[in-house]
Amino acid sequence: MNYLIFRKMKSLRTCLRIHQSALNSCCLVKPCSTYSNEKQTHFGFKDVGEKEKKEAVLNVFHSVADTYDLMNDAMSLGIHRVWKDEFMKTLAPGPRTKLLDVAGGTGDISFRFLDYVGKDALNAENGAHVTVCDINKSMLGVGEARAHKLGHSSGISWVEGDAQELPFPDKSFDCYTIAFGIRNVVRIDLALTEAFRVLKPGGRFMCLEFSKVTPPELESLYDFYSFQVIPPMGKLLAGDWDSYQYLVESIRKFPDQEKFAGMLKNAGFRFVKYENYSFGVAAVHSGYKL
Ligand SMILES: C[S@@+](CC[C@H](N)C(=O)[O-])C[C@H]1O[C@@H](n2cnc3c(N)ncnc32)[C@H](O)[C@@H]1O
Repeated sequence: MNYLIFRKMKSLRTCLRIHQSALNSCCLVKPCSTYSNEKQTHFGFKDVGEKEKKEAVLNVFHSVADTYDLMNDAMSLGIHRVWKDEFMKTLAPGPRTKLLDVAGGTGDISFRFLDYVGKDALNAENGAHVTVCDINKSMLGVGEARAHKLGHSSGISWVEGDAQELPFPDKSFDCYTIAFGIRNVVRIDLALTEAFRVLKPGGRFMCLEFSKVTPPELESLYDFYSFQVIPPMGKLLAGDWDSYQYLVESIRKFPDQEKFAGMLKNAGFRFVKYENYSFGVAAVHSGYKL
């Protein structure tokens, strides 16, 4: 009798296991990508496949392109301008510097570069030049229209491309910048390897990105502003809650200052250091290719 019950339970368990695996393979239990060969990553707080993240990030920036600059001013109360000015002062480009600004979007970093080096350097033979590279046509379109409006016609070019597979030869740039872009890239390690590849020996990498706030007592205030104010503001000013929800979630998923510095060292950069802006709301990381 006991033996019969044992046999029945065993076959029931086997049956349940088959049923469970059938359910899984039909994607009824978890998202399909969990069971495909695709590597997993995150889009904000959601677990997604790498391709899915790339598409979702493209959609976010297509959606926000037209209101991107207005929202930056509103969300940061204009402070992002101070951070970007400071970032360019630290980079201190010279009259012949060739800069690659990756994830350059609507041009904030590149316009500061053009202003910093000045018209003479831009018009000189073999003078300073910035290449803005971004994966998103809509962001580049807004950037080019701004450049036209601001009279920035020389010393700048616009290229559509992915930070993970840059469409440039090895050793082509003196400096590589990426501002508020790298946390959106699916494989940060690949983007850093590419940054290292396209820099000339002696070239400098500089990244401006949201980071970890210190001291910890500030965290709850920062969390309140991030999660309770920013998405509603996105809805009100840009008609888009979800993109701004992604923004604040993606900031929380990005490695903290020390961890990101470690990633730069792993990619081959030397003299790696970082500086916090506004209590670590943002941080600038810098490193050199020797
Ligand atoms: C928050 S915006 C930053 C724009 C600009 N750098 C600034 O500071 O205002 C992020 C930009 O990263 C771009 N981006 C996201 N993933 C990328 C990738 N894999 N390669 C190149 N650009 C990417 C987006 O299209 C978007 O324009």
